[in-house]
Amino acid sequence: MPLAVRIHLFAAAVTAATVAAVIHLRRRRSHIKAMGSTLLVLFAKSTEELKLAQSLKLKFKNTSDALKVSEEEKEVKVQLGSDVGPDSQVNFGVGLYMDSLVASRFGRLLLWSPRLSSTHDLVSKNFHELPLGTVCITDNQFKGRGRSKNVWDSPLGCLLFSFILQMEDGRKLPLLQYVVSLAVTEAIKQLCQDKGLPQLDVRIKWPNDLYLEGLKVGGILCTSSYQSKFFNVSAGVGLNVDNEKPTTCLNAVLEKMRPNSSKLTREEILASFFNKFEELFDILLNEGFNVLEDLYCKTWLHSGQKVVIEEKIDGRSIQSEVTIKGLTSSGYLLATDKQKNSYELNPDGNSFDFFKGLVRRKLE
Ligand SMILES: *[C@@H]1O[C@H](CO)[C@@H](O)[C@H](O)[C@H]1NC(C)=O
Ligand SMILES: *[C@@H]1O[C@H](CO)[C@@H](O)[C@H](O)[C@H]1NC(C)=O
Ligand SMILES: *[C@@H]1O[C@H](CO)[C@@H](O)[C@H](O)[C@H]1NC(C)=O
Repeated sequence: MPLAVRIHLFAAAVTAATVAAVIHLRRRRSHIKAMGSTLLVLFAKSTEELKLAQSLKLKFKNTSDALKVSEEEKEVKVQLGSDVGPDSQVNFGVGLYMDSLVASRFGRLLLWSPRLSSTHDLVSKNFHELPLGTVCITDNQFKGRGRSKNVWDSPLGCLLFSFILQMEDGRKLPLLQYVVSLAVTEAIKQLCQDKGLPQLDVRIKWPNDLYLEGLKVGGILCTSSYQSKFFNVSAGVGLNVDNEKPTTCLNAVLEKMRPNSSKLTREEILASFFNKFEELFDILLNEGFNVLEDLYCKTWLHSGQKVVIEEKIDGRSIQSEVTIKGLTSSGYLLATDKQKNSYELNPDGNSFDFFKGLVRRKLE
């Protein structure tokens, strides 16, 4: 379909409201960018997994088994790493990544794309078709998914990936996002240590953002669907490694701390992430989150933070101050007031900033 016609259809579909106009612009941009075909290249860690990759490639060729993609993706081409050759346009050091990876269940099958609307959509839409632990990574994501359907464009220089796993215990499911966050911060710590670099103090802003020097450098998104005793989970991470604009990134802070030192690469961070994640995920499953809670609370920004809760009682608005202490067993914030009463704080779901619009429930 010629581009002009498509834009016209979009124009007809949206109403005149300002918000809609913004969406319209964004869509139009996505469509222009997405004119070419989408390339996905499959890489595997071992020869056994390579065989799996080969059979997946053949399977996806069959139109009735093709990978499910978003409307932004046009024709999708799936290739094997060995098909594209060493001089290809693959802008990801797969050799370095695979060599650094020791995890036995995660990250061993990797789908790389130069440009994709959303890694999260790709893995969640194709959950059935992909082996558990498969990761999808892209250099440039133009319709990334955030919390509560926020959409953002990600510049080059970000580590953007999503992977899949299954869980049985629904009580542990809400805690998974914390384990993913912790795996990111622990992976960075480990890498800085291994490479003799200064420690980057990446912190968790509850529930799922990553901050460095007071600025957001990343975020985590976990979604799941449930069927016959299993939660199929897609976990996604976006981390700004190399792009200083508009705020900051890991390597800019490293450069400030020690000029001309070596830098962190997406490949090393991704491998280190899975190495840590596998370890922490097993702790979550076998021992429970309480074993990790101490480390989590050392890594987040909130211990001792005071929050003002606004409640409507009999039509009157009453403010009270509580102090954040940790997490409750269901993964919400644990807080106490001056009288030492304990509360669980839940986001009210309406505010963009979680710390505005918290709802409290008194704990016994
Ligand atoms: C393509 O998929 C369909 C449905 O799964 C199957 O019946 C058919 O045999 C497949 N064709 C090839 C060439 O594998
Ligand atoms: C979860 O994944 C399994 C395959 O591992 C699949 O059989 C099942 O249908 C999936 N459930 C949902 C709700 O997607
Ligand atoms: C860093 O490298 C640049 C270019 O090689 C050099 O001009 C500069 O002096 C170096 N800075 C430090 C602090 O070593």
